[in-house]
Amino acid sequence: MAKIAIVGAGHVGLVTGVALARDGQEVTCADVDSDRISLIQQGVVPFHEPGLSEGLRAVQRKGLFEATTDSVEAVGKSDYAFLCVGTPSTKDGAMNAEYLRAAAHDIAMGVAKGTGQKAIVLKSTVVPGTTEGIIRPIILETADKDAFLLAVSPEFLREGRALADAENPDRIVIGAETKSAARRVRSLYSHLGCPIIETDTATAEMIKLAANAFLATKVGLANELANLCDTFGVSYDQVISAVTLDKRLNPSFLVPGVGFGGSCLPKDVRMLIGYGTQGGYKPRLLEAVLAQNEVQYMRSIDLLEEELTDLRGKRIALLGLAFKGGTDDVRESRAIPIAETLLAKGASVVGYDGLAHESFLAQVPEVEMAYTIPEALSGSHGCIIQADLPELEGLTANDFLRTMQIPIVIDGRSALDPQLMDGIRYRRIG
Ligand code: NAD
Ligand code: UGA
Repeated sequence: MAKIAIVGAGHVGLVTGVALARDGQEVTCADVDSDRISLIQQGVVPFHEPGLSEGLRAVQRKGLFEATTDSVEAVGKSDYAFLCVGTPSTKDGAMNAEYLRAAAHDIAMGVAKGTGQKAIVLKSTVVPGTTEGIIRPIILETADKDAFLLAVSPEFLREGRALADAENPDRIVIGAETKSAARRVRSLYSHLGCPIIETDTATAEMIKLAANAFLATKVGLANELANLCDTFGVSYDQVISAVTLDKRLNPSFLVPGVGFGGSCLPKDVRMLIGYGTQGGYKPRLLEAVLAQNEVQYMRSIDLLEEELTDLRGKRIALLGLAFKGGTDDVRESRAIPIAETLLAKGASVVGYDGLAHESFLAQVPEVEMAYTIPEALSGSHGCIIQADLPELEGLTANDFLRTMQIPIVIDGRSALDPQLMDGIRYRRIG
């Protein structure tokens, strides 16, 4: 059994910690946010993630999981230190490394205070060169070079199914400059049935960014083709299901809609553009993916205006406020520009999301909140679906006819079955 410190108890850190503890490792999760730590100590997960609370409480009962605000002590008593803090980007694509630097400094202190050779594993998503160019020098300021091994192992989990993804990954990537560092990380994952890929650190860092750039580009292409299908009056679903019979074209991640949001796809594409340009290569395709994504939400407003002409004084239901269904995370949610545009056009907006009310209100306080879908639809002159909420499954035209003043539904995520929408003015992107 290894002793593992996790620094940064957010979506990645807490999930990683619980998954490792379920494997039988002894985990201490550390975070600077004392409110967050006190919730975790009580077995409460501070964000929505299916199965995580149960998993957390089970490993706490077994004595395999602790939480603390003292990263230095957590690292000092551990064999491994996982670095899982946020790496947000600025608008022009620069990586904000402030949290990474602070956490690396604490890890260095823990290494210097503790005994034995510690393996430090960077899990945050970073620009190629960060592990060797930022993390190692910070640790060397305080700790002896023989007191630690350094590796990067990026995370590929999705919010809403994070624990399942962390425990059944498609692959583990380990970037390290020495065989011994790679071996230390590999030993934690040898029970998994997936491929384990060993590379140098910069390649591992780039694999993560490339994966997110690929996913963002797939969604961007789906949206572009859906917009074109709408222009030509043909069905995107029919087109794409025939196109993806080609074995070279994997059919997943091609659902069109109002654009991709979340804390990672937009940020990671921005970072590739920012650092690529700085390094002498301007990634024009990725620039176009981001530029198209920034305006894609307007398709839902355009379709609504085609049906209603003038939005002034209209009451519009906005279903799905988080960046996708199954999460309470509103970071870069497309519901934010949709709500702001509706309000700017003189409409009133009533929002519904079973998980994200409070976090969304902090972003757009002018939105009225409903606590059920029928309440949101009641008396409305139109509805936009922004996220694939599980509650939308199985809804039929009657669910809208019953309560809406004008039954106009703009499905911005292909979340409803068009065959069940006879009798209402149902429009979708694609
Ligand atoms: P998050 O914002 O949910 O959590 C980060 C945590 O780090 C916060 O709790 C914060 O208080 C803590 N923190 C900040 N500075 C600290 C410090 N000095 N010491 C200790 N704790 C500190 O972030 P996240 O979503 O978990 O993302 C973390 C990293 O993982 C990012 O680089 C992100 O791009 C990457 N990633 C995220 C996901 C995802 O689905 N959210 C998936 C894969 C990779
Ligand atoms: C994404 C990646 O899928 C993960 O592999 C990665 O680890 C993570 O980013 C990260 O680096 O943080 P996540 O942000 O949880 O995971 O969300 P996704 O499920 O990828 O969805 C992202 C956005 O794309 C959402 O707004 C979603 O609605 C949209 N999307 C997704 C579509 O519009 N169409 C699709 O077909 C798929």
